[in-house]
Amino acid sequence: MALQARQPSGNEVRIALPADPMKTLSIRRPDDWHLHLRDGAMLRAVLPETTRHFARAIIMPNLVPPVVTAADAVAYRDRILAAIPDGATFEPLMTLYLTEGTDPADVAAAAACGLVKAVKLYPAGATTNSSSGVRDLTRVMPVLEKMAEIGLPLCTHGEVTTPEVDIFDREAVFIDTVLDPLRRRLPELRVVMEHITTEEGAAYAAEGGETLGATITTHHLIINRNHILAGGIRPHYYCLPVAKREKHRLALRRAATSGNPRYFLGTDSAPHVDALKEHACGCAGCFTATNTMPLLAHVFEEDGALDQLEAFASLNGPAFYRLPVNKDVLRLEKRPEPNAFPEKIASGAGPVTVFDPGFPVHWHVLP
Ligand code: DOR
Ligand code: ZN
Repeated sequence: MALQARQPSGNEVRIALPADPMKTLSIRRPDDWHLHLRDGAMLRAVLPETTRHFARAIIMPNLVPPVVTAADAVAYRDRILAAIPDGATFEPLMTLYLTEGTDPADVAAAAACGLVKAVKLYPAGATTNSSSGVRDLTRVMPVLEKMAEIGLPLCTHGEVTTPEVDIFDREAVFIDTVLDPLRRRLPELRVVMEHITTEEGAAYAAEGGETLGATITTHHLIINRNHILAGGIRPHYYCLPVAKREKHRLALRRAATSGNPRYFLGTDSAPHVDALKEHACGCAGCFTATNTMPLLAHVFEEDGALDQLEAFASLNGPAFYRLPVNKDVLRLEKRPEPNAFPEKIASGAGPVTVFDPGFPVHWHVLP
């Protein structure tokens, strides 16, 4: 940092001030409790961005066609394992995509052998590749009852798709009309509210007790809806659930940095090639795998809560999923020079833009 002092003559003299003292932070290696890896060339391009910092991730099943059965999950897990870069250690935690044809016995078998850690509920039409999702919850009750019995978590994309409901209200309406009635009917069902974006979502999760968790993305801690829409439309900030107004972002910041075990990191890092983001009908998704950990260190430091980053990124998720905490650590360092994140990463199908927080980030992950 340099200050400019004005001399009586009008000449400027630059006085060097000491740079911010270097800070370091060591946390248990984090996990990502909500991640899209896709398949094929895209999988091979994006997986190293996650394995660099994360030990495990809950892998979203919304491929085309989706990962519906235990056999689908085995085959997808094997493709992921084959794409792990040499020298990296990474455990994909597989999920099944809930359809109205899902067989409860297949789900139970996939959970019993440890293959599958959760089932994902996409309301049909809610987001990318959700057309095979659930239209009528009563049709999947036998699966949900089995999951409640065996303790297998249900990850929910918590938005209603009714056309009359405004897109900014979809999450709050889902909580009132779908999630809360479901949890009253099946109190043992363990539920993760994925990528919460509202004050209402954060408040509901806080009251939910041990059967409820909520993931929060990196980008929803950083952007509000103005970032998407004011001064020109910015497709790389468009994701679902869409970012809401500022008071909601602030509620998410309070939740994430609170240390409350109900909240944990799920990046929802969702790669789409630029050609499909910068499009007349652009895809939803922010790609944050590359820079999530430095961004989170920035956010938590800004809120005076660096001491809570480990709970959010490395402890609360394993506690909810009843898995051990990672043994090794991730070290971060705050340096005077900002981190030079790549603007894009190459994939077989074209470039994928890395999420741009819009401010310099001085935290670096140490190798
Ligand atoms: O923004 C999103 N992108 N939200 C989702 O729910 C799905 C994801 C994707 O698969 O691209
Ligand atoms: Zn997602």
